Amino acid sequence: MHLVTLVEDTKGRSDLRNRFGLSLYLQTGGKSLLFDTGQDDTFLANARALGVDISGVDLAMLSHGHYDHGGGLGAFFAVNRATPLFIGKGAGGPHYAKVLWMHKYIGLDRSVLERYGDRMKWVEKDTELAPGIDALTPVKRTMPIPRGNRRILLKAGDGYVPDPFTHELTFVVREGDGMVVLAGCGHSGIVNMVAAAKERFPGVPVKAAVGGFHLIDNPLLKTLGATPGEIRDMAQGLVHLGCQRVITGHCTGKKATGILKEELGDRLEVLHTGYITDI
Ligand SMILES: [Fe+2]
Ligand SMILES: [Fe+2]
Repeated sequence: MHLVTLVEDTKGRSDLRNRFGLSLYLQTGGKSLLFDTGQDDTFLANARALGVDISGVDLAMLSHGHYDHGGGLGAFFAVNRATPLFIGKGAGGPHYAKVLWMHKYIGLDRSVLERYGDRMKWVEKDTELAPGIDALTPVKRTMPIPRGNRRILLKAGDGYVPDPFTHELTFVVREGDGMVVLAGCGHSGIVNMVAAAKERFPGVPVKAAVGGFHLIDNPLLKTLGATPGEIRDMAQGLVHLGCQRVITGHCTGKKATGILKEELGDRLEVLHTGYITDI
């Protein structure tokens, strides 16, 4: 698989723009895929600079219903006129984040979902999207989910309730020599997501787990959303599942990435806008 990072919180080239969020372009088995768009149309400008043709994308996937992953959907549909978008049921829900005493809307632009309703392929159970490309949901939670999830809520009537994250999809791309597990924010817990892929496809080696692991608790203070011990356990959990490479960024945060690096060494790679690799 060829991976091009269209948008991430940081950047590695001066001609690209970084934004809080994630968007990846993937090529596998003769198909080109878009995994998330980031929060706006930045992914389009970066794609042009990186020589990626978004109008030719064959299949689009949304990890979950947060603006930093799906805020660019309108821009995508305007440029790519035919490709379906695989999106978890409930991704268009009223998603909020609690920041200090305020509730901030962090969901998708519902007018975009309505305007392009014919492009939506709503996913509510394990589904094969194309040969070798699957979406998994729900994911069993045998390991702890990120603590930062407690700040992420669903509006219900006049109040707010915890988000069960049933709108989050785990994407699995299988190739001849193994599979790659893609997580947007990893709200279901990256170890749980990789374990779900192993359970769905027993015996298939995990070439890489890619995405954000949501280990920032308070985004303003950039506090850790897990204890260092829990982060080390997460790293060992991924090793135990046979993850050959861990490629992370976005909401994993610098502090947690440093701890993961101590545990994983060369097995860990850090995403940035413009990061390109073959898996
Ligand atoms: Fe995110
Ligand atoms: Fe998220």
